[in-house]
Amino acid sequence: MATRKIILQDNPLLRKKSKKVNVFDEKLWELLDDMAETMRVNNGCGIAAPQVGVLKRAVVVEVNQMFLELINPEILSSRGNQCEVEGCLSVPNRSGYVNRPELVCVKAFDRYGNEFAITGTGLLAVALCHEIDHLDGILYIDKLVKEYEGE
Ligand code: NI
Repeated sequence: MATRKIILQDNPLLRKKSKKVNVFDEKLWELLDDMAETMRVNNGCGIAAPQVGVLKRAVVVEVNQMFLELINPEILSSRGNQCEVEGCLSVPNRSGYVNRPELVCVKAFDRYGNEFAITGTGLLAVALCHEIDHLDGILYIDKLVKEYEGE
């Protein structure tokens, strides 16, 4: 495992659409391991492959001690609304409010190519939506309702 360099907001790679993963091999596992380490070292609760410069549809999320790897994730359904503060490892020293669903059902593949579904509410729903947006070149600042300025 190794940490990888996180690319920042002004890097055009963050605006590209990532490609579907078709091969679930050791190269993918290494990427996922490195993403997890990079997320943890930087105290993030999620990271998407394009943030380490790899345009593949892979994200990892860690919320409330639940660790998830999602390959080719797709939001199947969502409901409700929440507006909470988000930050992003690619947008340092900022945070702000974004509207997200309160609940999302996501289908994805694990690192071995097995399909699974996960339902997330609250912070997990936020993290899933935020990371899946990265795969389509969308940053939370595109959806910002209001900058967070502390309390
Ligand atoms: Ni982010």
